[in-house]
Amino acid sequence: MADAPTSPYLVLARKYRPRDFTTLVGQDAMVQTLGNAFAQNRIHHAFILTGVRGVGKTTTARILARAFNYEDASGPHPTLDLSVEGEHCRAIIEGRHVDVIEMDAASNTGINDIREIIDSVKYAPSSAPYKVYVIDEVHMLSTAAFNGLLKTLEEPPPYVKFIFATTEIRKVPVTILSRCMRFDLRRITPEIMTAYLESILGQEGISFEPEALAMIVRAGEGSARDNLSLLDQAIAHGNGAVTAATVKAMLGLGDRARIIDLFEELMGGRIGDASRPCAPSTIWAPTRRHWSPTLPISPIWSPASRSCPPLPMMSRSHPTNAAAAPILPGAFPCVHSPAPGRSCSRAMTRSPAPIMACRLPRWP
Ligand SMILES: Nc1ncnc2c1ncn2[C@@H]1O[C@H](COP(=O)(O)OP(=O)(O)OP(=O)(O)O)[C@@H](O)[C@H]1O
Ligand SMILES: [Mg+2]
Repeated sequence: MADAPTSPYLVLARKYRPRDFTTLVGQDAMVQTLGNAFAQNRIHHAFILTGVRGVGKTTTARILARAFNYEDASGPHPTLDLSVEGEHCRAIIEGRHVDVIEMDAASNTGINDIREIIDSVKYAPSSAPYKVYVIDEVHMLSTAAFNGLLKTLEEPPPYVKFIFATTEIRKVPVTILSRCMRFDLRRITPEIMTAYLESILGQEGISFEPEALAMIVRAGEGSARDNLSLLDQAIAHGNGAVTAATVKAMLGLGDRARIIDLFEELMGGRIGDASRPCAPSTIWAPTRRHWSPTLPISPIWSPASRSCPPLPMMSRSHPTNAAAAPILPGAFPCVHSPAPGRSCSRAMTRSPAPIMACRLPRWP
């Protein structure tokens, strides 16, 4: 699997992109359902794959294209057992098979783009058993484009398969959804992800500290691509080894002990101690993990600037906070939160999202 040293470096996420379902991790429910459907020869003509970034939607679409078009000496027969490369497999893996058409709906949003598909659906595949249309980021299609697709999607010719992928399933019309077999790809659990990263480091021959992997897995939020990109970065940062110290520095994480102290000070209502000058962006994400996610938090203050305010500004004595509803004894008066609807740790660690002071309106 490893490339020759002279070949250009391929990032881990590309080098280890799964080529069959045995190497796709953390999506067992989907793989089992597909396995049963293939075994019973009840293969739908349209699939929609959804899930957060980097959990395997595009990868699954390509593996499925291989599975539909599997052909060996005994002839074409769709199968999920792709351990031996079939006649069309290499071309499909390399994205150059004429009968597997990948379209990025983010840059082909209009009805004219869909019209091209509808017109070409009439023609039989040139060499593979099936013509497979993979439409990525399908939620980006215009309303007219979705409507244009409905008839063909309902009754395509027998040699056509559609696979849609999207991170935003809510933006896909129900008329489309009801014509597809839907799979929700899960975030990959920390245990599975840790084992996966360990196996990749083993194949790469790179030493690592378990604590470093734990930090990467936490920051990767269940996305395999995020984890592999962080791992790439950690290998470069640590000059070939993945250590806790370099990962901590790379991720900008605060000292764990300091975070626990801060949490205890906040929980004890000792805001004076808790608001000692520190960089909120380095403590927010890990601090939040120490709370129950069900705590009711309401935003009360948002700075005009997009920069993160220092903690003392957000203390009980700050005029904006003082004017707000009374603070219940024992509740901590303010914490940091990103804009509503954004992922907390992502917003804080990767983008300069506006920060708000928040208050716990009541103790749960
Ligand atoms: N379930 C998985 N098992 C193993 N590797 C995975 C998995 N999901 C993603 N990856 C890794 O992440 C990379 C990106 O995966 P993929 O393109 O399938 O993600 P995606 O779900 O389509 O993401 P996006 O929504 O950003 O398009 C792959 O090349 C692979 O290395
Ligand atoms: Mg994708």
